[in-house]
Amino acid sequence: MDTKIIRIDEQHIDMALIEEAGKIIKAGGLVAFPTETVYGLGGDALNPLSSEKIYKAKGRPSDNPLIVHIADMQYLDRIVRKVPDSAYKLAERFWPGPLTMILYKADMVPYETTGGLDTVAVRMPVHRVARELIKAAGGYVAAPSANRSGRPSPTLAKYVAEDMAGRIDMIIDGGNVEIGLESTIIDLTSKEPTVLRPGCITKQMLSQVLSGVEEDITLMRDDAGQAPRAPGMKYRHYAPQGDMTVVSGEEGRVTEYINEQVFLRKSDNKRTGVICTDASVEKYRADVCKSVGNRNDEAGIARELYRVLREFDDEKVEVIYAEAFDADGIGQAIMNRLLKAAGHKVVCV
Ligand code: TXA
Ligand code: MG
Repeated sequence: MDTKIIRIDEQHIDMALIEEAGKIIKAGGLVAFPTETVYGLGGDALNPLSSEKIYKAKGRPSDNPLIVHIADMQYLDRIVRKVPDSAYKLAERFWPGPLTMILYKADMVPYETTGGLDTVAVRMPVHRVARELIKAAGGYVAAPSANRSGRPSPTLAKYVAEDMAGRIDMIIDGGNVEIGLESTIIDLTSKEPTVLRPGCITKQMLSQVLSGVEEDITLMRDDAGQAPRAPGMKYRHYAPQGDMTVVSGEEGRVTEYINEQVFLRKSDNKRTGVICTDASVEKYRADVCKSVGNRNDEAGIARELYRVLREFDDEKVEVIYAEAFDADGIGQAIMNRLLKAAGHKVVCV
């Protein structure tokens, strides 16, 4: 299959191109598109065949449900059995934006889209290209992140092309994404509203709107003896090809420990890499050292993290050490992704 790559600028949207992309989705095809979080791989959420195609293109297990993207509040109650008050409250504050809500699905949502579940994940993105595309495609676009399963989510169209060229109909290049990590997921079908995946909308922010917000205990640890409640969170998702370890502790000791390990692994003829920050990047002696930015600029780190993980793969790094980050605010989402990439391998020094 030839994959057509087009460029659409969020500030000057070419509606003829949007129409063309919308028609592809309506006809059962797949179009990758930019959102404010990461690039999505879109198909018609109400067409079971489209959802099957998405799983196939990603190489993703079909028990891992897709997020349905909408562009207008009026579309919500058609795909959800009954919209609870909590959903309206969250929507008023955070939609359009990087928040996904889990709700009971209406019959018209096929089980192929929800991975066999009676619940459906819904998100209303703020990116204008995404919104126009959703409208042009009929209102309901199922879209997981546009990476092959097991690779970091794409933050640039060129990464979508690396993973998806030849497998989907079209890629819309909208430049850099703004956030760089996937949306926060909150389950509104459980007894208490529960965060299943941390993102840039934090638990503290959600707690200003709803009381009793909880967190899935598997978010930051893997010894909980429990399967995560978002089926996708059980896979070693954001996995670089190298063997990764997160190192936490006082700054100087972290650098010292990592350099010792790098020395040992180099003498085993391994190609080594370090994920660090602007302030520490000069101090490491690994083959490849990459800064994710300034430690105090968490939004900046979130934006760079997946690019850096992909570059370690491109440079064939075999052993990766990553500095840890504070797990408050967006830092929780950053650490959640790092820990998953490392298969929860953490050393405290
Ligand atoms: O920011 C985002 O959310 C991006 C952009 C494209 O919108 N999308 C995204 O989709 O990250 P995906 O498929 O890569 O991740 C969706 C996550 C998976 O972990 C999946 O298991 C979970 O959402 N999920 C989807 N439906 C669910 C449901 N009904 N119950 C629990 N978890 C669900
Ligand atoms: Mg994903």
